Amino acid sequence: MKNKVAVIGAGNVGASAALFVAERGLADVVLIDRPEMDGMPQGKALDMQQSAPLWHKGCRVEGATDLAAVKGSDVVIMTAGFPRKPGMSRSDLLKANADIIRPAAEAVKQHAPDATVIVVTNPLDVMAWLFWKVSGLPKTRVVGMAGILDSARFRAFLAMELGIAATDVQAMVLGGHGDSMVPMLRYTTVGGITVDQLIPADRLQAISDRTRNGGAEIVKLLKTGSAYYAPAMSAVEMAEAILTDQKRLVPCSVLLEGQYGMKDLFIGVPIVLGGAGVEKVIELKLSAEETAALQKSGKDVAEMIAELSVTV
Ligand SMILES: NC(=O)c1ccc[n+]([C@@H]2O[C@H](COP(=O)([O-])OP(=O)(O)OC[C@H]3O[C@@H](n4cnc5c(N)ncnc54)[C@H](O)[C@@H]3O)[C@@H](O)[C@H]2O)c1
Repeated sequence: MKNKVAVIGAGNVGASAALFVAERGLADVVLIDRPEMDGMPQGKALDMQQSAPLWHKGCRVEGATDLAAVKGSDVVIMTAGFPRKPGMSRSDLLKANADIIRPAAEAVKQHAPDATVIVVTNPLDVMAWLFWKVSGLPKTRVVGMAGILDSARFRAFLAMELGIAATDVQAMVLGGHGDSMVPMLRYTTVGGITVDQLIPADRLQAISDRTRNGGAEIVKLLKTGSAYYAPAMSAVEMAEAILTDQKRLVPCSVLLEGQYGMKDLFIGVPIVLGGAGVEKVIELKLSAEETAALQKSGKDVAEMIAELSVTV
C-alpha cells in the first residue's frame, strides 16, 4: 500500500513540501488548509497533479479544507500558522499559532494516531511541544524541524565561502530555532577535514552569525513572507527518513527528559530519525561554553512554554 503524507497548511512552506514529497515519489499527499480558504488547497493540489505525468513517480495529490483529511496518514507535516506581523508581540504570535496547533493535534489524535508528525510552525520548539502535549502521541512520534534547516544554511554558506560542493560539508547546529541556536564548529567538516583548517576564525564567526540570521536575511529580501524552499525541503528530508526508515543522524527538535541537563521541553539535539520516528537522542560531550549556550537556548524555550501554559 502507498504511503500517505498529510501537509497541514497550504501556504508557501506547505505547498512546497507537498510538491517535494510527490516529486520524490515518497507518498500520496493531501494538502489541507482552513475552511475559509476552500478552493485554494484543491487548486494547488490540482496544479501539482497536472505535473504528475512529468514526475515519473505516480503519486496523487489532493486538496482539502477539513482536518479529518489527515485520516490514515503515515506522516503529517504541520506548517499551518501565521508569521509574526509588524506590531504583533511574541505573546500574540504564540497564542495565535497555539490556537492553530490545538485542533490540528486533536485531528491527528482522532484520525491518524499512528502518524509521525513533523512540526514546522513557529515558534518551532514551543509549537512542537504543544503538538505533542495536545495529541498525546508518544514522544518518539512528534519531531520539530529546525536543525536540518539551520545546518543546511550553515553548510550552504560554508560551501559558498570555499567554492566547493555543499554536499561535502557536514555540520551540526543545535539549540532552539532562533537567535540562540548553537552552530557546532568543532563538528563541522569539509570532506572529513575540520573547517577551522580551511577558513580563518574571523570568517567562521561571520558565517556562524549569518546562519543565526539566515531566516531574517531572507525576510528582509522578500519584504513579504519568509523563507520556504529550504524549510520545505528540510521537512521533506525528515519525512523521507521516516517513510523509508533511513536512520539518519540529524539535528531535530525533540522532547528532552534530562539529556543535556534539560527536561519537559523540545529543543534541537542530534537524533537518529527512522521508521519508528525519534529512535535515539544522542547526548554529545559538550564543553562548558557549549553547554551554557545550549542551556540558554533551552531557557528561552522554557519561558515561552511557561507563557503558553498561562495564556492558553
Ligand atoms: N521551523 C522552521 O524552520 C520554519 C521555517 C519557515 C517557516 N516556518 C513557519 O511555518 C509556518 C508557515 O509558513 P509559511 O511561509 O508557509 O506561511 P504562509 O502564510 O504562506 O502559510 C500558512 C498557511 O497556514 C494556513 N492556516 C492558517 N490557519 C490554519 C488552520 N487552522 N488550519 C489549516 N491551515 C491554516 C493559512 O491559510 C496559510 O495558507 C509559519 O509559522 C512560519 O513561521 C518555520
